[in-house]
Amino acid sequence: MSTLMSHFSPTITNMIRLDHTHVLSTFHKYKADTAPDTKQALVNTVSLALEIHAQLEEEIFYPALRAVTTNEAVLAKSEPEHNEMRSLIGQLRDMKPTATHYDSTFMSLMRHVIHHVADEETVLLPEAELLLADQLSELGAQMTRRRLALAAPKAGNIAANMVRAMPTSTMLVTAGGLVAGGYLLKRALERRT
Ligand SMILES: [Fe+2]
Ligand SMILES: [Fe+2]
Repeated sequence: MSTLMSHFSPTITNMIRLDHTHVLSTFHKYKADTAPDTKQALVNTVSLALEIHAQLEEEIFYPALRAVTTNEAVLAKSEPEHNEMRSLIGQLRDMKPTATHYDSTFMSLMRHVIHHVADEETVLLPEAELLLADQLSELGAQMTRRRLALAAPKAGNIAANMVRAMPTSTMLVTAGGLVAGGYLLKRALERRT
């Protein structure tokens, strides 16, 4: 299954772009006048997605790129930036959505995320596509396998947040990016082997 999965897998760079898109589209549903319970569910959804995404990049994408890059500068600040995001996520988990600084803390998290994503999408992903061209699908398959392992213990939590935060049609699209896309891909490939 591993070879077949690698052959059909989306590239790791496109999977990273898709994760970014899903985080930003969830962020765009958060407004100042959104109900507190919905705010918290949106923040939880973004937080879980970012935690899984950051771990996948640190375990699979960054080491692969580090092995071939000649320009370490952007890569070197990527993990410290993930840690800043983790710190803001921790602050949000300790706050109620009605707290005075809840909105501004979430906006601070997203400001960090947007800067970080801009560096990845304009520097690291194009560089990876030049230097790792023949490995991108295999790395994508590795990322899918690891994503399933990381997301499985959190599946109930992810689903509960999506139910609270989104109408069903949006929920299905978001689930596709966070978890179900990888799951369905895996199931489809298993049926072919
Ligand atoms: Fe990152
Ligand atoms: Fe990323």
